[in-house]
Amino acid sequence: MRRNLVVGNWKMHGSRASNGLLLSGLKEAGPWSADVAVCVPFPYITETALALTGTNVSFGAQDCSAHEQGAFTGEVSSAMLADIGCRYVIVGHSERRAYHAESDQLVADKAKAALAHGVTPIVCVGETLAEREAGQTEAVVKRQLSAVIHTLTHCIGEIVVAYEPVWAIGTGLTASPAQAQSVHAVLRTLLAAATQKASSMRLLYGGSVKPDNAAELFAQADIDGGLIGGAALKAADFSAICRAAG
Ligand code: 13P
Repeated sequence: MRRNLVVGNWKMHGSRASNGLLLSGLKEAGPWSADVAVCVPFPYITETALALTGTNVSFGAQDCSAHEQGAFTGEVSSAMLADIGCRYVIVGHSERRAYHAESDQLVADKAKAALAHGVTPIVCVGETLAEREAGQTEAVVKRQLSAVIHTLTHCIGEIVVAYEPVWAIGTGLTASPAQAQSVHAVLRTLLAAATQKASSMRLLYGGSVKPDNAAELFAQADIDGGLIGGAALKAADFSAICRAAG
């Protein structure tokens, strides 16, 4: 059986002081029976790791380079993330695809680099509102995930996938559980054609997940947890979502 996973994506939020409060709030609220992780801004990873010592909350980053090492000013390699103990790295978040022009292939290359160093990539896919309205949802998510399947080949079973409809991110508009489930089913079918591990892979939903809608989303057959933005910045909300996943 799949164990649910809840990941907090802090995005570009936080400070040493506010992170300390948030992490101590999580420590008090846990443990949960679902797997839980936080993906934090690069400068705070090490301090987050220290704060989480003795808990079963994992930590990770929000992006990594597709390159191994070298003259790539400003980039952070997956080897570095592995070196400081990261378990996860988010790749292909829609904000990076939109604001940094990340292509499907670049996202796939980042996922490959992460896996090469034992860091689990959380690969984000999702359609924009215009794409949904044009009836292209399935085609878009299949195109995004296919690039990763082709690049990772037999390792595809090692990744986590996050379906995040762009129109639901930070907007308060959540995909209905049925809408989310139908896309998750499409993704799992695509994965099943590529790996025997598809039925044990975790497919997360992200986009305005809150304490009051989490349980219904996580109850769907192919939704195995969530990738949480805004609500991950409040210890009470994030821990309620973690409880809903457990
Ligand atoms: P919100 O939960 O704020 O909608 O963000 C979702 C997200 O982008 C997580 O990666």
